[in-house]
Amino acid sequence: MKPAEGKLGVMAVGLGAVTTTFIVGTMMYRKNKGLPGGSVTQMAKIRVGRGENRRYLKMNEIVSMTDCRDMEFAAWDIFPENAYESAINARVLLEKDINPVKDELEKIQPLKAAFDPTYVSRLAGQGNNIKQGTRSEWVEQLREDIRNFKKRHGCNRIVVIWAASTEKFIDYCPEVHDHLSDFEAAIRDNRCDVIAPSMCYAYAALMEGAAFVMGAPNICVDIPAMWELADKNGVPIAGKDFKTGQTLMKTVLSPMLRTRCLGLAGWFSTNILGNRDGEVLDAPENFRTKEVSKLGVIDTILRKEDQPELYGDIFHKVRINYYPPRGDAKEGWDNLDIFGWMGRDYGMQIKVDFLCRDSILAAPLVLDLVLCSDLALRAGLKGTQRWMSFFLKSPMHDYTKGEEPIHDLFQQYTIFKNKVRELGGYEPDEEFE
Ligand SMILES: NC(=O)c1ccc[n+]([C@@H]2O[C@H](COP(=O)([O-])OP(=O)(O)OC[C@H]3O[C@@H](n4cnc5c(N)ncnc54)[C@H](O)[C@@H]3O)[C@@H](O)[C@H]2O)c1
Repeated sequence: MKPAEGKLGVMAVGLGAVTTTFIVGTMMYRKNKGLPGGSVTQMAKIRVGRGENRRYLKMNEIVSMTDCRDMEFAAWDIFPENAYESAINARVLLEKDINPVKDELEKIQPLKAAFDPTYVSRLAGQGNNIKQGTRSEWVEQLREDIRNFKKRHGCNRIVVIWAASTEKFIDYCPEVHDHLSDFEAAIRDNRCDVIAPSMCYAYAALMEGAAFVMGAPNICVDIPAMWELADKNGVPIAGKDFKTGQTLMKTVLSPMLRTRCLGLAGWFSTNILGNRDGEVLDAPENFRTKEVSKLGVIDTILRKEDQPELYGDIFHKVRINYYPPRGDAKEGWDNLDIFGWMGRDYGMQIKVDFLCRDSILAAPLVLDLVLCSDLALRAGLKGTQRWMSFFLKSPMHDYTKGEEPIHDLFQQYTIFKNKVRELGGYEPDEEFE
């Protein structure tokens, strides 16, 4: 594996609440002014070795990791405000935590976005920092953005991460999305119906040898044509959708039900959210993308094929409600109807009320996904990085071969730790089923 020498360029698509919270937090942390709470790469201790030889080490003591002080940031957005103004507008972090890095933030001026208003109808007509041209012209401009940024800041590696708005739902379309040659032909033909803007960013990144992470539920790199390109160019990809609030809880509570053989009759999740993400997700075509990502999580943990009496008939519903007064401080309610001894006549309920802060939960995941993608890049790991599923709501997997995603947070963590051990030259030693 190549050591983490030189600078890592982090290019975020979207300079909204999540990205600014990530950048400000990282800048404060590297000045020793902020706690990187929630960041596994910075805080977790992983056991290596067994018995008397066992030790608990931080990730950078196991493998060569990029230091946050060696990171340079850039972003694309449809709004022209710089990172300082965007951080203030996002109303996530307090000014006392933004102002110490004001000078650095002001230098991050968003690059023009590859934006198609039909993919995010709620933002139509709102921003003017937008690229002109066809899909293939966008790709060329985005590739140039990446090359320029890399050169200007002397970076020797780049990770591109999507933290922009969730795009409208588009169906996987085998005649375009299955093979790289068909996909490239569709870009040339400017097939706006099947080539989402996010795909142009991802394609540009992979062509430039940059790792790509999809933080929203967009289909984007979750198609065989992109796997083919990532493989061909030897770059890692990961996605989809940061696993932060309710879904994180789901992938913790579901294993509890399964291991205790408790049945589930229904799970209703709803939340109120008042930031711009909430506004975008208020549009049914954008919510549909999120709904698909959120609904999938319990099926592979509570398997109806294995336990039909317990999980054969689950009513699962997910709702998101845009409610401006709350801003980024989302409140998520979950109601679980469960049963056990003597069946459904003795049903019980679990209620979860999670008063969270959306971007405070997402920012450490951005840092971890960026650093792990960089690690993968240096280790020569290419294609879908399943070990990073730990951070993601709808982990990528080869559905064309009937492969299933692993959603259970604890199994995901085992896979994650084993990969880190393996990369550090230690024996992977925990089994999972
Ligand atoms: N915060 C969480 O807990 C969480 C969890 C999972 C996923 N996400 C996803 O992360 C994404 C970012 O969330 P956020 O709260 O920062 O949203 P936000 O609305 O604050 O920021 C998104 C930004 O993306 C920009 N944008 C939209 N389309 C673009 C394009 N084509 N190119 C460049 N910029 C574009 C918008 O102008 C906006 O500034 C959303 O898709 C959200 O669903 C967030």
